[in-house]
Amino acid sequence: MVERRLDPEHLPRHVAIIMDGNGRWAEERGLSRIEGHREGIESVRAVLRAAHELGIGTLTLYAFSLENWNRPRDEVGELMGLLERYLEEELDEVMRNGIRVRAVGRLELLPPSVREQLDRALAKTRDNDEMQLVFALSYGGRQEIVDGVRKLLRDVEQGKASADHIDEKAFSAYLYDPEVPDPDLLIRTGGESRVSNFLLWQIAYTEIHVTERMWPDFRKGDLVDAILDFQSRERRFGMTSAQVQGSK
Ligand code: FPP
Repeated sequence: MVERRLDPEHLPRHVAIIMDGNGRWAEERGLSRIEGHREGIESVRAVLRAAHELGIGTLTLYAFSLENWNRPRDEVGELMGLLERYLEEELDEVMRNGIRVRAVGRLELLPPSVREQLDRALAKTRDNDEMQLVFALSYGGRQEIVDGVRKLLRDVEQGKASADHIDEKAFSAYLYDPEVPDPDLLIRTGGESRVSNFLLWQIAYTEIHVTERMWPDFRKGDLVDAILDFQSRERRFGMTSAQVQGSK
């Protein structure tokens, strides 16, 4: 078992994934892009199970970006349908495994039926504390920062906040979900080395692992490989190697 090679003492607490390559996976097989997204759901199931087995505390999945609203109507409709069905069908397993579902993004833009399933999952899993599964939905990193600035300015107007007291920690409280720790590891499938407006504030010190594997083919072994890559790196947070070694 490949996971035997993992160091259980140095697991990333939070793994975030840009699930890319569904379209290409499908096109390579002469299928429609939608078939690629359908197959991508199997990877979501497998990776959530694997992350839970490995003891990862938080898994964030970039399921739908704000830019994705510009895709053809059919594809957007299909993705929303898949999401709704996933939330409905997986809730029992999520509950059995003590997983709390969270969501970040401009959720008010989601169709009411998706919003309903999502709200149900958020409410029902609220007290679960074994692991958290965060969906980035209708999400954009720059927009999250802008939305945070708006909330902050409103607080300043009402005298609840002041410029002098805003530092990084205080500003973080205005982001979509301040309770979720910053990711330690960001995985991008599909081979492209881009951040694509994902968690821009939160990935300041995150290790990035890009794999050629298309999302519908991504399975536990690929997750383990990404974590092994993470464990082979030295996270210095701007310090020297000697400082990091000395502080251990
Ligand atoms: C990128 O592939 C993937 C997406 C835009 C959506 C990811 C969605 C899923 C895996 C299914 C729904 C998710 C959940 C959590 C239930 P792409 O279409 O951009 O691929 P390409 O780069 O090959 O065109």
